[in-house]
Formats: sequence, structure tokens, C-alpha cells
Amino acid sequence: MTANTTLDRELVLEIVRVTEAAAVAASKLVGMGDEKAADAAAVDAMRTVLNQLDMDGTVVIGEGERDEAPMLYIGEKVGTGKGPATDIALDPLEGTTICANAMPNSLAVLAISSAGGLLNAPDVYMDKIAIGPGYEEGLVDLDNTIEENINALAAAKGVAASDIMVCILDRPRHSELIQRVRAMGAPVMLIGDGDVAGVIATTNPEPNIDLYVGSGGAPEGVLAAAALRCIGGQIQGRLLFRNEDEKARARKWGITDLNRKYSTEEMASGDVIFAATGVTDGALLEGVHISADGCRYSTETLVMRSATGTVRWIKGEHKTQD
Ligand code: FBP
Repeated sequence: MTANTTLDRELVLEIVRVTEAAAVAASKLVGMGDEKAADAAAVDAMRTVLNQLDMDGTVVIGEGERDEAPMLYIGEKVGTGKGPATDIALDPLEGTTICANAMPNSLAVLAISSAGGLLNAPDVYMDKIAIGPGYEEGLVDLDNTIEENINALAAAKGVAASDIMVCILDRPRHSELIQRVRAMGAPVMLIGDGDVAGVIATTNPEPNIDLYVGSGGAPEGVLAAAALRCIGGQIQGRLLFRNEDEKARARKWGITDLNRKYSTEEMASGDVIFAATGVTDGALLEGVHISADGCRYSTETLVMRSATGTVRWIKGEHKTQD
């Protein structure tokens, strides 16, 4: 189903409060080595504020299925129920491990579309390739080799293949991919976690990332597609299944063609709003900082909307509650 209705523009500012709340809650557990506690704090805070928004929201990308996630599970209704019907994709703490280890780039992330706009992707892996805005559609393609993709991008940019900076999740499963990129003379930026930020980085001049490739979570793929719908750029994704159980999960969510290659629009269509607040400092966003006297904390949020293409960077200063 494709979503056609336009979302209320006030939602753009409302959802900033949602990701800010999740980021602040998680920030209290930065570096404490407890991924579950940090995630639970972010989930709880995100849900509380999300439920204050006037919308009839349904979580399509959430914390898991109903039997495994007590809150923000797939299918959960959120919002006051009074406003427009919306699809919600969320990751209250994207990069649980980096938050627990006080490393850069953990985020609180939320995307909203009109109902039917977001792909109901199961929590399996997804093969991804993404580039920033300004290129012909399909310039890079999951069905092409990494060498073909780098050469195509280099030609479009008018640079040598060795000038293309490629971002890849640092995982043993990517060792051959990394080797092949480097064999072309192209540099690789390895990230420990957080591929939503990795994909969005292709749209920014800083850090200078041209191409994102490799496999990561499918839910993160949909969130990244929502971000690129707003800011420009392209992502393709294809679900990867490790066993029959994962295939069954995909079928349960209505996916019949398990080998389908999804475009940006097929993962996030219609009017989409995307927000991310930094938990720990990163290349994309500053994390939450507490003032020296402990009375105020600051947040930084990226919020954007596909209907207008407006991208806002919102710095918040808040009084501490306790
Ligand atoms: P979590 O926040 O759920 O820990 O996800 C972090 C992340 O790095 C995602 O950004 C990425 O898509 C996924 O994990 C990769 O999965 P894996 O760590 O299994 O390779």
C-alpha cells in the first residue's frame, strides 16, 4: 500500500520531544555496560511521550514482536488515537552497545509516515547499499558487484575509484567486501555499530562518506530509507534470512517475495517525518550533555520531512527534573 495523505506539519516539532526524551533517558546509562537497561530506559521514555501525540499510530518497526517485547512492539497502537492514522518506525536506542560502552554515534530514532507508508520489515538482516543525493536513480545497485558500484559512483562524481570513501559495519561477515574495496584503492571507514547514522552520513559533506554497503538490521534499513526520503539520496535493501524461522516471520508480515530488492520509496513512501537525537557524541549529532552544575542538559536533534524537504538541526536546553 502507498501512503498519500500529508501529515500535520506540527508533528515535525512534536516528534523532536519524543526522540529527545528517549535520548536523555538513555544518556543516564552511557558507559554503564548495561545495554538492556539503557535500551529499556529509552523505550519507556519514548513510549510515554509518543503516547501524548495526537495521532492514531501503529508501530510497524519496533522493539520486536508482541510476545518478545513488552513495549513498543510491532502492532502496538500509540498516540492519543485522535489524529491521523500513521505508521511508526522507531529505534529508541540505535547502538545499544555503543551507548553501554560510551562510544560515539548512538541515537534515538523515530520515523512517522501516513498509514501504509513504511515497510513492515521483520527483525532479520538486510543487505544494503546507499548513496547521497544528486545521482541518477539506480546508479549503484545491490545486484552489481562492489567494483561496478564504486566505478559507477566514481565516474558520476568525476573522480578516481580510489577517491570513493566507503562506510561498512566492522563485522567478520564483511571481511571479503572490505578487502575488495581496498583492493581498488578505495578507503573504508569501519563503524562498530549504528548503520542508520552510517547511511545518513552519505548525505553529508562531513564525514566524507560516498557509499554505504553491507548487511545490518532490516528495521534500521527502513529507518535509513525514511531519512533519505527526507534529505535525498538512495538506498536499496534486500532481506537476508538465516533460517526457516526468519522466513516464516517475514511471511507473517505479508512478505511473499523473499528475494525482493526494495528501493527507498518501497521502504518509505508518502509523507515521511524522521527525527534522530544524539545519545553519545557522533559525526552526525552531539550527544546529551549535562551542565557543570547538573541543572540543565542539552540535546541535538535532526528532524526532517519528505513533503517539504526541510531539514532542521534543533539544539535543546532543558532543565533537569530531579
Ligand atoms: P542495536 O542498537 O539493536 O544494538 O543495533 C546496532 C546495529 O549496529 C545496527 O545499527 C545494525 O543495523 C545492526 O546492529 C547490525 O547487526 P549486528 O550487530 O548483528 O551485525
